[in-house]
Amino acid sequence: MSRRPVIAGNWKMHKLQAESAQLVNDLMAELKDMDKATMPEVVVAPVFTSLYAVNKAMTDCGCGRVRLACQNCYFETQGAFTGEVSVEMAKDAGCEYIIIGHSERRQYFGETDEMVNKKAKKILAEGLVPIICCGESLEQREAGVTDSHIASQIKAALNGLTPDEVAKSIIAYEPIWAIGTGKTCDSVEANRVIAMIRGVVKDIAGANAADAIRILYGGSVKPETIEEQMAQSDIDGALVGGASLKADSFAKIVRGALK
Ligand code: PGA
Repeated sequence: MSRRPVIAGNWKMHKLQAESAQLVNDLMAELKDMDKATMPEVVVAPVFTSLYAVNKAMTDCGCGRVRLACQNCYFETQGAFTGEVSVEMAKDAGCEYIIIGHSERRQYFGETDEMVNKKAKKILAEGLVPIICCGESLEQREAGVTDSHIASQIKAALNGLTPDEVAKSIIAYEPIWAIGTGKTCDSVEANRVIAMIRGVVKDIAGANAADAIRILYGGSVKPETIEEQMAQSDIDGALVGGASLKADSFAKIVRGALK
């Protein structure tokens, strides 16, 4: 089965509203000659406070080439959860995807595998797509526990999902030591881990779901690295941090992802 590539930009905690709108406008201008039917699925994840401005810029443009995500959510619908944003609220703001379990959220904000699982269930129940992040630290890699650690993150994240829900989800493999360091994981090794993840998905949800689910690589992806990454059998796209903050470099990555 051929899986449509996904290039997602994680803007992290960057950009005010006007800057965010400018960035998405510049990006849409860069992509305007691409064929909508054959181009990769392009997603941007601004901060919550910029969702309205970015969604408005997308609607005003009407080009339909870029889709909206946010970087986190809470799994309850509403209530006394100060500081949190529900999936319904993200959907109301125009989001179609939500990034969950990013290593920065796990490290700095105590997000656990159990929370990632609850968020994934809620996101899918609302008809949105979870972008589920996983990845090992340098210590784990050096200790030889990369595969077992990632397999356990994936099993926990997908626990209780139907094969159909799994098929619709997106996974991002992001080795922590490659995030924001300029040190990209070797493409063959990234592909090996991603194929291993696909095997875990197959065990949990069957061959069809494993065949359908898009699994991205993330960690210092740049215009110079994307073609080699996309040439690998199991890498279906990229979750891009730093290089997504400039329209031209992000657009180059989108073009480079056309297999
Ligand atoms: P990076 O970030 O591209 O800046 O390494 C990737 C990510 O954290 O999603």
